[in-house]
Amino acid sequence: MMEEQKDVLVLAIESSCDETAAAVVKNGRTVLSNVISSQIALHTLYGGVVPEIASRKHIEKINQVIEAALSEAEITLSDVDAIGVTYGPGLVGALLVGVAEAKAIAYAAKKPLIGVHHIEGHIAANFIEHPELEPPFLSLVVSGGHTHLVYVKDYGKYEIIGRTRDDAAGEAFDKVARAIGLGYPGGPKIDKVSKEGNAQAISFPRAHVEGAAYDFSFSGVKSAVLNYINACKMKGEDYNQADVAASFQKAVTDVLVANAMHAVKEFKADKFVIAGGVAANSALRSAMRSACEEHEVRLYYPSLVYCTDNAAMIGVAAYYEYLAGTRHGWDLNAVPNLKLGERYE
Ligand code: KG4
Ligand code: ZN
Repeated sequence: MMEEQKDVLVLAIESSCDETAAAVVKNGRTVLSNVISSQIALHTLYGGVVPEIASRKHIEKINQVIEAALSEAEITLSDVDAIGVTYGPGLVGALLVGVAEAKAIAYAAKKPLIGVHHIEGHIAANFIEHPELEPPFLSLVVSGGHTHLVYVKDYGKYEIIGRTRDDAAGEAFDKVARAIGLGYPGGPKIDKVSKEGNAQAISFPRAHVEGAAYDFSFSGVKSAVLNYINACKMKGEDYNQADVAASFQKAVTDVLVANAMHAVKEFKADKFVIAGGVAANSALRSAMRSACEEHEVRLYYPSLVYCTDNAAMIGVAAYYEYLAGTRHGWDLNAVPNLKLGERYE
């Protein structure tokens, strides 16, 4: 008789930015719990994430969040097979809270410790709700800190084929939202107000990086929006907030989709995955759906809760690292500018 495979349970911790999160993931695909303590309300007072406040809030919340994740999953620490934690990239003080906590738990409970790259987590979020999805595939990772086109060769094996030369897509959303008086967090607010606006109203630039077909640049479109609203103010005219938001959003999503489809053609891809906070954008999702249909490529994206920062995605990535034999030592540190595919030694 075949011996039954034992389940692998990962307790995962994420604290790289402004969400304190813990989750329990079974066999890399089933989320038993996904607890997120968001600091958004706190940072809204300052119009953006204040790193020191983020660290302090993480240290205050992390144990309660982990306790809730274990109890919602109806397990105890002794049932866990490994501890996964985001160790970069992100805000150093914020990352250190999660890393120190994960090390303490792993040490005390004698469990393997697995450091996870935050972007690897965002991509892995797609495995949760798409059991049939397996590498290789192409991926567009669009978050507050990153805009990458990535060829995912295998679990844990990445080739970055394009990246932003300046602002990340989410960063551009956040800055433009602030400039047009929508406040923080900008992405969801621009998404919402754009539904009332005309995306053809204003023609903002679509930047293409010479000689690097997969790279992005969003500082030009951001400046164009700022110039547009300043010009209106100088003339004593009001601008239409919804039209500016919708036209900006269209300029950004047009470039994201164009570069993504260029890569689809070159790589002859049959699967495309979008990931990260900006993957929650309704205009991007719908433009990618049409483009992928036209190019006969299957599109995958996570539910909204798995697009923005969460620990379930870190648990999924940690599971595949666990299978690949990744184990980190007690010297694991936070690496704020960790590169995708780079190993901490
Ligand atoms: O992945 P994420 O939660 O954190 C990082 O790793 O950066 O992404 C946060 C970013 C923010 O810039 C936020 O404005 C953006 O994702 N975002 C959105 C939407 N929801 C979140 N951008 C556009 N449309 C949205 N619906
Ligand atoms: Zn993120």
